[in-house]
Amino acid sequence: MTRVHQLVSLFSISVFAALTTLSTPIVQAEVVNVDMVVQEVDIPVDNEGTTQKMWTYNGTVPGPVVRVKQGDIVNFTLINDKSNKNSHSMDFHAAIVDVLDEFSEIKPGDTKKFQFEAKYPGAFVYHCGASSMAEHISRGMYGVILVDPREGYSETYPRPDREYVIVQGDLFKAGTSAEDRKWGKDWQGALINGKMFHYDPVHDENATLALESKPGERVRFYYVNAQINDPVALHPIAGIWDRVYDNGNPKNISYGMQTFNIPPAHAITVDLVSPGDRPSNNAIVDHAMKRALNGAITVLLNNEDADPDKGRDGNLVIR
Ligand code: CU
Ligand code: CU
Repeated sequence: MTRVHQLVSLFSISVFAALTTLSTPIVQAEVVNVDMVVQEVDIPVDNEGTTQKMWTYNGTVPGPVVRVKQGDIVNFTLINDKSNKNSHSMDFHAAIVDVLDEFSEIKPGDTKKFQFEAKYPGAFVYHCGASSMAEHISRGMYGVILVDPREGYSETYPRPDREYVIVQGDLFKAGTSAEDRKWGKDWQGALINGKMFHYDPVHDENATLALESKPGERVRFYYVNAQINDPVALHPIAGIWDRVYDNGNPKNISYGMQTFNIPPAHAITVDLVSPGDRPSNNAIVDHAMKRALNGAITVLLNNEDADPDKGRDGNLVIR
């Protein structure tokens, strides 16, 4: 069978499976085209505007959020811009493929295409796998692919009022070698969606952004650990995770959790519900002090006048 035939039959199987499950909504699998261009660029890494040479997908850290439904076929194109100096690749954790084929690196000026079925629901990291991975990842080559469950929302996976994507990565001193990065030498801080203390006006006077919701709303965070060595001890100060979905899979539920471990190259989905009868605030932290006090704190303001656009209609990464 040719590759195209295999994909067509995969596609048919997914649609057939969806159509025959009468107790659940009928959701058709789709082919989703995703294109990314690798760009090696100088961009701000803190709220003050300090820039560093980062390696990126589409010019931002993290790269674009990819969102598909379980069973969809992702038709991916990677372009390594000819002005770049390094080879790069793409490793989607949501894909079941061949590391030496689909995930192999390409030189500046080259293009690579591959396809995969998003078989399992959840929040999955994607990252560059070119050598040295320690350098490529810690320079910003990562992001998240969300695979929404085929069944949609349910009693145990309720529809959230708002959704935010947070990706925590490393920041090293400018010019740190690949070898030193690997050993954690000259580590400078934790990046939250590309900047230290990105959404924390309490600890950083230059911060202008915070996350927002209304009192009582269910806020869902897709929290991704893109650090190369360290776990994330994710805790909502002045709150309790109402639910934690490990790997973002609605079947992996823990209730009423205080702190949840996210190993490197893993992601979780967590729900927070603030009191409905008063304004309140939470600080979403990596409770390991080394990282919390060096960038990994995010403020969530629960107020009646919350910005209606934040965390809604695809506005998941606040910039
Ligand atoms: Cu790379
Ligand atoms: Cu990986």
